[in-house]
Amino acid sequence: MSIWTKLSEESLQCLLESLPPRIKAVLKEKGVQGILSKVAGVCTCAVLFLVLCINIIRAFIYFNGIRLLVESPQSSVSGTRGSSVTLPCKYRYEPELTAPRRTRVKWTWLPANAITTAVSSDAFTTETEVMVAMGNRHRSYGGFRGRVRLRRSAPGDMSLVINELQLNDTGRYRCEVIDGLEDESVTVELELKGVVFPYYSKKGRYHFNFFAAHQACQDQEATLATVEQLFSAWEEGLDWCNAGWLADGTVQYPITVARHSCGGEDLAPGLRSYGQRHRFLNLYDAFCFSASTKGNVYFLRDQKKLNFTQAVQACVRDGSQIAKVGHLYAAWKLAGFDRCDAGWLADGSVRYPITKARLNCGPPQPGVRSFGFPPLHRKFGVYCYRQPFSENKK
Ligand SMILES: *[C@@H]1O[C@H](CO)[C@@H](O)[C@H](O)[C@H]1NC(C)=O
Ligand SMILES: *[C@@H]1O[C@H](CO)[C@@H](O)[C@H](O)[C@H]1NC(C)=O
Repeated sequence: MSIWTKLSEESLQCLLESLPPRIKAVLKEKGVQGILSKVAGVCTCAVLFLVLCINIIRAFIYFNGIRLLVESPQSSVSGTRGSSVTLPCKYRYEPELTAPRRTRVKWTWLPANAITTAVSSDAFTTETEVMVAMGNRHRSYGGFRGRVRLRRSAPGDMSLVINELQLNDTGRYRCEVIDGLEDESVTVELELKGVVFPYYSKKGRYHFNFFAAHQACQDQEATLATVEQLFSAWEEGLDWCNAGWLADGTVQYPITVARHSCGGEDLAPGLRSYGQRHRFLNLYDAFCFSASTKGNVYFLRDQKKLNFTQAVQACVRDGSQIAKVGHLYAAWKLAGFDRCDAGWLADGSVRYPITKARLNCGPPQPGVRSFGFPPLHRKFGVYCYRQPFSENKK
């Protein structure tokens, strides 16, 4: 009754007038007093609720007045294999805060082979965690454990430093800053400087299903190329008329000069794609991607030519190992390795790298020339690969 008495006569009248006719009828019937006290109770509740609402809205507006900004000056970063790379990311508040807030930073990663797979299952397209940091504490995950840290060169600097870059680290990284109600992020692409090369089986053309192609590249110190990597190689002039698997499970080939036998003369030059193929059943070649290593590829000077078994042993005697195809391509493309001598490689193929085309050294363009897979008793030179000293000792 206390609140009831505080209500003025007029507002009570107003309240009564605004009630629906049916309730007014009930009021008349059951007597005003009892029911009005109930109404007063409901009103008190409503007022309290309204006050609460206003406060929440005010808090929200206040927080929204301060904006959390997450930025990266570079949308893509390129690194070399085995080196360190920094993916820039910075956050700040606008206007600037006087007291520090508790923010959480999360770096996640979408591998390059998953980016282009628009129609693949969730398992392939979800981002995985790289690092989570809160205050000075942080944790890294999976293959990044022990290899990543935050740069923290200034307040708000959450740049991710990745050490010992691996071939399969390429992809889209997301820097996400979480602060209570706010959650902002920015993405940075990581690319590797490297070279794409077509690869086919010892058994002949079109012998790899997807998994065999994956393994074949790995065996040659390489990884299946991504669509972006093949596209860049095409831009640089790669023309190859045999279809190969790519990391996203598609099968494509790059054509710079349209011709009848390679998808037709009418089609514009570019990547010809067969789209996603059956990973077990369909057989093609592979496009591998290799990047430079810290080691050294060299042609072994030897007085006489060697069969394959002798070639393998000769490198070992020289304190190294017979080079893999990925080693030779990387040395040719990234270090300008040029040698007009056919040599054995670890897979039993014979090749040689030419950066300055000349007479008696193959076609007039630079490239890694291939003799395919000759019988193993045939005699050639050999390319060896020497690991950097520290890795040799492992
Ligand atoms: C990436 O490459 C490294 C070294 O070659 C390997 O140990 C690792 O398992 C690979 N990670 C994935 C996700 O394939
Ligand atoms: C290479 O030559 C050595 C010595 O003549 C011989 O023992 C070996 O079987 C040969 N290897 C091949 C693959 O022909």
